[in-house]
Amino acid sequence: MNLLKEYSIQNTWRDWERYLEKLPLDQNQIVYDLGCSIGTVSHLLAKETKQVTGFDNDKALLEIANKGKENNCKFVNANIFTLDPNKLEKCDGIWMSFALAYMQNPDLFIAKWTKCLNSNGWFAIVDIDDLFSGHLPENNKFLKEIKDFECTSEKSKVYDFKIGGKIKLLMEKNGLEIIVAEENWYDIELNFSGNANKNVIENWQARLERMIHLNNHFGEDYGEFCDMFINSLSSEEHVANGCVKFYIGIKK
Ligand SMILES: C[S@@+](CC[C@H](N)C(=O)[O-])C[C@H]1O[C@@H](n2cnc3c(N)ncnc32)[C@H](O)[C@@H]1O
Repeated sequence: MNLLKEYSIQNTWRDWERYLEKLPLDQNQIVYDLGCSIGTVSHLLAKETKQVTGFDNDKALLEIANKGKENNCKFVNANIFTLDPNKLEKCDGIWMSFALAYMQNPDLFIAKWTKCLNSNGWFAIVDIDDLFSGHLPENNKFLKEIKDFECTSEKSKVYDFKIGGKIKLLMEKNGLEIIVAEENWYDIELNFSGNANKNVIENWQARLERMIHLNNHFGEDYGEFCDMFINSLSSEEHVANGCVKFYIGIKK
């Protein structure tokens, strides 16, 4: 399964309407979607606002995003970490789902983009927290090792598997008043209890196959770790707690 297929399937599971119901949207708003990928949320936002711009640095994903888009929706190929939001038109809302974990300095990132929001504008951030360890019981043989991996990745600044737990504080620190704080947001693939369905398991298998750093971390034990992880997700005893967090802050 390639990344494009993985992202397309994941989008069908996200149930974006549930998120959008929480946003203070109106038809006069200019909205930015940061790390928009194939543009699914941008398209939905465009139906309820005046103008949506999705930003991503992956050309292939943006080509999909551009297909069948609404007249009030456009996509820009840009690195959202280095792009200077001061050079953009001010906006009324910023959507960022599952992309903050990639930012080398999330504090600076939120500070920069908050400046581009009009007063009373909203900033919505969704991201994962303890993506792997959050699915395993306390007595799991690999728990310490997977937590070590998540910490190493956090320190490397390449991808922060623990970003979810930091979002609220970072938003507040940057002058955003939290109006929605969902610490344990249900997601059929990422934050659920009980056994995962067959398609969800296939997607997790694809994720494990492409995770080179995780593979290197476990070395010769990687096969055993993957089997154990997939078995855990397939078990009725499986419990995940807090692996997806969703916040909305208002600029005051
Ligand atoms: C996990 S996907 C999430 C996509 C989408 N927001 C969603 O929730 O389905 C992360 C997206 O962020 C984009 N991305 C990561 N780092 C980026 C950067 N520095 N500049 C622009 N886009 C970036 C990736 O290309 C990818 O499309």
